[in-house]
Amino acid sequence: MKVLAINSSARKNGNTAILINRIFEELNKEGIETEMIQFAGQIMEPCKACWNCRGKKNCIHHKDNFREIFDKMKEADGIILGSPVYMANMSANMQAFLERASVVTDMNRGEGLLRHKAGAAITAARRGGAVNALDAMNHFFLLQEMFVVGSCYWSMAYGQIPGDVQNDEEGLNTMSVLARNMIFLLKALKERR
Ligand SMILES: Cc1cc2nc3c(=O)[nH]c(=O)nc-3n(C[C@H](O)[C@H](O)[C@H](O)COP(=O)(O)O)c2cc1C
Repeated sequence: MKVLAINSSARKNGNTAILINRIFEELNKEGIETEMIQFAGQIMEPCKACWNCRGKKNCIHHKDNFREIFDKMKEADGIILGSPVYMANMSANMQAFLERASVVTDMNRGEGLLRHKAGAAITAARRGGAVNALDAMNHFFLLQEMFVVGSCYWSMAYGQIPGDVQNDEEGLNTMSVLARNMIFLLKALKERR
């Protein structure tokens, strides 16, 4: 089994990455393969509304590495969307990425490209907007016939400077519980396949 995490932070290995790695620790203990893709240093193009993805199962535009990432999403059993809170929402790069991913799945609706996968959204915030960012990312999963994984609190942690989230004990614990719930769901889904 494999879980792919997409980290849309502009900072490589920042707070969002720390939270994803916390989840990965638990997944790896169960032998689940993990991979994190970090958008830092890249600009993700938004959807051009060309509809040329109809019947193609991927976006046709090559300016960034969307196509490669979307292929990995199709292969993964679980997907984690991780974004820092920017302007009380997910980052612009994540918004652009999800616009394209949701149009590709919509234009190929019968294929169920992400159907019955497990999905979890997580966020790092300095102070405000975390629930809004989580809701926005979870809307993506809910449009894909995916199953959304929850935790013992909304899956956020507080911090500003990279490393700050290490001091948010509750936030870190929320990530560990999220990971264990994801493991539960992945195993249950595997049995059904
Ligand atoms: C452009 C920008 C906008 C931000 N907007 C918010 C915000 O609305 N609310 C908030 O709590 N933190 C905000 N922050 C702070 C980040 O969410 C916070 O520093 C987070 O830990 C960054 O995670 P990272 O290290 O993974 O990049 C913003 C940061 C940036 C760069």
